[in-house]
Formats: sequence, structure tokens, C-alpha cells
Amino acid sequence: MSKVTVSAPGKLHLSGEHAVVYGNPAVVVSTSLRLYVTLTASAGSAFGDVRKNDPFIDAIAAVFEKKMGKPIASSLGFAITSTIPVGAGMGSSAALAVALIGALSQWYGFPWEPKLINELAYQAEKTKHINSSGSDPAIVTHGGILWYRRELDFLKTFWLLPFKIPKMFAPFVLVNTKRKESTGDLVSAVAKYQKLHERQFILLRDAFEQTTKQMTQAIHDEDEQLFRRMITQNQRLLEKLPVVSREATAFIRAVEKAGGAAKISGAGGVAKGSGVVITTHSEIGVLQQLADTFGYKPFQTVLGGDGVRVEQMTA
Ligand code: PMV
Repeated sequence: MSKVTVSAPGKLHLSGEHAVVYGNPAVVVSTSLRLYVTLTASAGSAFGDVRKNDPFIDAIAAVFEKKMGKPIASSLGFAITSTIPVGAGMGSSAALAVALIGALSQWYGFPWEPKLINELAYQAEKTKHINSSGSDPAIVTHGGILWYRRELDFLKTFWLLPFKIPKMFAPFVLVNTKRKESTGDLVSAVAKYQKLHERQFILLRDAFEQTTKQMTQAIHDEDEQLFRRMITQNQRLLEKLPVVSREATAFIRAVEKAGGAAKISGAGGVAKGSGVVITTHSEIGVLQQLADTFGYKPFQTVLGGDGVRVEQMTA
């Protein structure tokens, strides 16, 4: 083998982030933004050097070596390219774990097993934030739109929804408000909140679950009004947790005032921004103008594409 390239998509949480860590469902969708891992016999940086300098890549490699019983040659050529924004709630870490494990499994001649790739990526993600729901690696591996729920650590269930985001829905505009905290920091902040407000938290989790169900129904029924209401409802619930910044809230309120709907997606952020915000409005121009006013660069992506896939394999 002289070259292997495997890619994996970025993702968005349409509903249920944070509650999914506690066993409630989330709806997650893949995007057309992708991360590519290329392994070669020679060119690129040597994998041994890369893993020495990057604890997450080292953790992914260690999980692979342990499970597959195959030490990774330190001279292996390694390169990453990506269009997924980093640390913005779009699953760039999960895409890296999934694509790297997929590429290593191909390089060392193992069968192509997305289920195993997902599980190993989940193990690697747990070295970053211990209480991970596994929704990121699952959507990044399988693609499409997933209804995801972690019942137990060894029983992570998902349903690949047999429908797409309706074409008649106005396209989403994404706005990266950036964030300072890691996903682990924000998951820990929610855990602290849960300890202090046990009863409210149970009610909140239930409200998240109802919202996620209604949003799924809205996508299925192609009911854009209900879909937008559920985006707003989900955002309001997230605002009860310590995961949304004032800056992101101000932007979201401006979108709502202009007649649209918006929510953070993924872990969020409190100190400054809250990562990527999903916005929707019947007139895209309104969203672009608002983003501009707040100093953000809006962008678009196609939702619901392929999960992990082999791009190239040269003997
Ligand atoms: O990958 P992020 O930063 O978008 O966060 C993932 C979503 C959380 O529910 C906050 C964490 C998890 O493990 O599901």
C-alpha cells in the first residue's frame, strides 16, 4: 500500500445536545464539510512525531493499537486537510478520530467496519471528555440524520432517519461565533448545574426530549413552522444551562426579532461566543445582513451527506 485517504464529515446537533449526555435523545445531522486523513509510505509528517506532539492523536492511535493489536509504524506519512471549523461544535475532533481510525484500519488491511470505527472513536473521545454521549462519533461515522440515545455506556442506540431535511425548508445559514471553552469544560459546567438543581434538571431533560421529538416530527411532516418553533424552544432550554454566552444570545435574539429562528449547536460557550449558531429565515439575505452587523462571517453547508468513506487507496 502506498497511499490511503479516508474522510469524515462535520455535524450539527439539531436538538438535544447536553441532555443526550444524560440519556435523553438527540437529533444530529452530517454536513458537507469534511476532514481528510491521508496515510502514505513516505511523504507528509511522520506519524510518530505527530502523536508525540498531539495528545488527542496519540489517544486515537493508542485505542487503535490496543483493540487491533497492531503497533503503528512511527515512520508512517500522515497529513490532514479539513474544511470543518475547529472547536465550534461541528464535530471536528470526532471527524479526526473517525477518519484516522478508518484510514489506519485500511492501511493495515483490516475489514471496513463502520460500527467498530465508531466505537473506537468514541473510546478516544472519552479521553478528552469522560462523560461523552457518543453522538458526535456516531453521526460522523454513519452520516445522514440520526436519532441518537445512549441508554448505557455499552448500549448506544440510534436510528438512521429514513428522510431528509425537506427541500422546501429555507436553507440554514451557519454563523461561527467561536468559543473559548472545550466541550469537556461545558459538559462539566452542566454536571455542576445538575448537582445544584436536581429537580429542575429532571424537568429540563424531559422538556429537551419533547422538543427533540417534536422537531423530528416536524422534519418528517415537512412542517417548517413547527420546525422553527422547536429550534427556538431548544435554544430557550439551552439558555437555562450555563452554556450560552451573552454575545451569542444577543445575535440569536436579533434573528428572532427579524422573524427567523436560531440556536447554538453542540456544547456552546459562555465566556465569549458559543460556537456555531444555526439560523433560519425565509429570506437568507436578512441573516447575512444580521451576521454582518455582528461581525460574523456566515456560511452554508449541505446537510445529511455521507458518513466516513474511503476516498483513495493506492496499492
Ligand atoms: O462536539 P460538540 O462540542 O458540539 O458537543 C457535543 C454535544 C454534547 O451533547 C454537548 C456533548 C456530548 O457528548 O454529546
